[in-house]
Amino acid sequence: MLGQFTYYNPTKLYFGEGALRYLNEELPKYGPTVQLIYGGGSIKRSGVYDQVIAALKANGKRVVEDGGVMPNPTTEKLREGVRIARENQVDLLLAVGGGSCCDYAKAVSVSVHCDEDPWEKYYLRFEEPTCEIVPVGCVLTMAGTGSEMNGGAVITDRAAKLKIGHVFGSDVMPRFSVLDPRFTMTLPKRQMVAGIYDIFNHICEQYFSGEDENVSDDLAEALMKGVVRDSLVAVRDPGDYEARSNIMWAATWALNTLIAKGKSTDWMVHMLGQSVGGFTDATHGMTLSAVSLPYYRFIMPFGLKKFARFAVNVWDVRPDGKSDRELAEAGLAAMEAWMKEIGVALSIGELGVTADMIEDIADTVEPMTGGYRTLTRDDVVRVLRASL
Ligand code: NZQ
Ligand code: ZN
Repeated sequence: MLGQFTYYNPTKLYFGEGALRYLNEELPKYGPTVQLIYGGGSIKRSGVYDQVIAALKANGKRVVEDGGVMPNPTTEKLREGVRIARENQVDLLLAVGGGSCCDYAKAVSVSVHCDEDPWEKYYLRFEEPTCEIVPVGCVLTMAGTGSEMNGGAVITDRAAKLKIGHVFGSDVMPRFSVLDPRFTMTLPKRQMVAGIYDIFNHICEQYFSGEDENVSDDLAEALMKGVVRDSLVAVRDPGDYEARSNIMWAATWALNTLIAKGKSTDWMVHMLGQSVGGFTDATHGMTLSAVSLPYYRFIMPFGLKKFARFAVNVWDVRPDGKSDRELAEAGLAAMEAWMKEIGVALSIGELGVTADMIEDIADTVEPMTGGYRTLTRDDVVRVLRASL
């Protein structure tokens, strides 16, 4: 039975080839100064930077540069971005890049007019913004996080080895996002598949909870099937526009909160992955893939019916004569075969974790209560060891 919920998503999306031209509709809505947020330089190499600058100039904007946002953006970079925004009294934060740039822009947006330290306020104390929020717009160049249409903003404190996400409300979500699948075509294959696994796991996190029949889970299954189909095409031919555009759209729907509506959600793979990320700075999607199979095999007995349904509805395992347990195991085996085929990390050892780090990593893992089992610290250690 679906529980009660409210659904509101204020982000306006412009999707498709050439969608960047819609900046001409959006930019006039904001004041003259735009903080242009981007990463380590991929947008300069791909030409997206030049196109965005041309649109900003054509709309008479003063551009304040804020490049160098790293994957897994840090507290130091966040404080620098806040300083840039304050010094220049910016009217719009325009993130051009992947989830890291979009997340960072949101973290800056809630901190510019706030006197307190953003890491302590939003990430350690989990408070909500009470100050004026600077509007955010995104031009997405990597499909994966869903940050283009949600309130999530994940920040890493490298010294403390903590990677923490805050999901802000609708006031902080991007006002608009431009999604041109062509912009994702320059992604290195490893980043593409990390993004694909991130999408798939976002769906899993919202699917593996509860046992009832509900539309949110039906939508989740359709999205998962599509991601598997399109990923196999994209891995063979990264230039396949049909597959890449489907992947980009699936990423948005996987985490704009729609498929979580009316049901509980898990998010334990993300908690494990984030802690691994805090210690290794590894690529987000790879931290998830590396812990997923040990985690799902561990919780499978507690959510057997759903895992059996997953096998039949997502992986086309034939149910005839099989017990729920046999079906569930076959579904996870099919998922493992797919993960091997697309080439995601299957162990945290590959990401730099060694056995002596496990206890320290476990200390930073936040247990979640919405899935099939709330992990104890011993369970966390067991799953991490099985992921080595
Ligand atoms: O920095 P540049 O030079 O731009 O290169 C980036 C970066 O090295 C590169 N890249 C992006 N688009 C490219 C490209 N290279 C060539 N061509 C392109 N078109 O890809 C690398 C990774 O970029 P990044 O933005 O870090 O990846 P992603 O989109 O996976 O974002 C990861 C961050 O988002 C957080 C993660 O934890 C991580 O910090 N997440 C945010 C979520 C949210 N807002 O809801 C949810 C997710 O679960 C996730 O936690
Ligand atoms: Zn994710």
